[in-house]
Amino acid sequence: MTTRDIQALTTVALPLPHVSRGKVREMFALGDDLLLVATDRLSAFDIVFEEGIPDKGRVLTGLSDFWFNRLDAARPHHRISTDVDALVAETPSLEPFRDALAGRTMRCVRARPIAVECVVRGYLEGSGWREYRDTGSVAGIRLPEGLRRGDELPEPIFTPATKAVEGHDVNISCAELEQRVGESLAARLRDRSLSLYRQGREHARDRGILLADTKFEFGWGPAEELLLIDEVLTPDSSRFWDADEWSPGGAQLSFDKQPIRDFLEAEREAGRWNGAPPLPGLPDSAIEATSERYREAYRRIVARPLSGAD
Ligand SMILES: Nc1ncnc2c1ncn2[C@@H]1O[C@H](COP(=O)(O)OP(=O)(O)O)[C@@H](O)[C@H]1O
Ligand SMILES: [Mg+2]
Repeated sequence: MTTRDIQALTTVALPLPHVSRGKVREMFALGDDLLLVATDRLSAFDIVFEEGIPDKGRVLTGLSDFWFNRLDAARPHHRISTDVDALVAETPSLEPFRDALAGRTMRCVRARPIAVECVVRGYLEGSGWREYRDTGSVAGIRLPEGLRRGDELPEPIFTPATKAVEGHDVNISCAELEQRVGESLAARLRDRSLSLYRQGREHARDRGILLADTKFEFGWGPAEELLLIDEVLTPDSSRFWDADEWSPGGAQLSFDKQPIRDFLEAEREAGRWNGAPPLPGLPDSAIEATSERYREAYRRIVARPLSGAD
């Protein structure tokens, strides 16, 4: 059997207390710890596709694990372990799920999340680009005139957002962040996020990938330490661009999700989809191409293939 025959994993039910379900991850309680299981679910416009992307959850988990090890600014963080064999040895009721959990499971410190999306942008795209085009600033930060969509910024900038319960995140200024969490925590979130971004970007660039922008999450650990939580510098939390294809002046090709974008665009042009939910069903070709892009992102950044993938 090749990896291509393996079904994507879109749901996982474990004999553990279920804490919550995100768009991509299932959270379970393991004593005082949290078991984060990244499924192969894919979302667009905050809606989850019915089809999963094979290997996606393993790529997200493997990349986060890589960055937790690699980046000085990642410490302290929430990861305890990704060792599923040790997990099953300790919790034998998980034995039937060993294969499903392998590579996609992270045992973490259960933190009290700080409800701020710590976004860092090194390039102009997305809501940052739109704000710059309309106002010349992003998150209250004045930028030079004449920048094009996709251009690199003179310096990476911190542009926090609040987690909206429904729909899209809302960008807030650094002054608003200070009002919400206090000056000192706002400064810590900004400095740590910028350090993480700079350290990650340097490594990614050496491997031919541009980290256009990204989002970090932090939370308070049991000893009131500021932990880096959630996923780190993955294609889901970041815009990855192929350095060789970077061409400012318009929309950039998405390293991982371009096959999905292309398919949705074609459906729209053919009049089969009106651009609003529900999302159309994905063809196998788009699923397989996207799966390969995720694996390639892992292969490039970590400099070895995802285990069990070719
Ligand atoms: N160590 C942690 N402690 C508590 N919550 C966490 C921790 N790490 C991540 N989370 C939360 O778990 C969820 C991860 O699941 P995900 O599917 O990515 O959710 P979302 O749809 O919100 O992106 C997020 O809501 C994130 O804030
Ligand atoms: Mg998430």
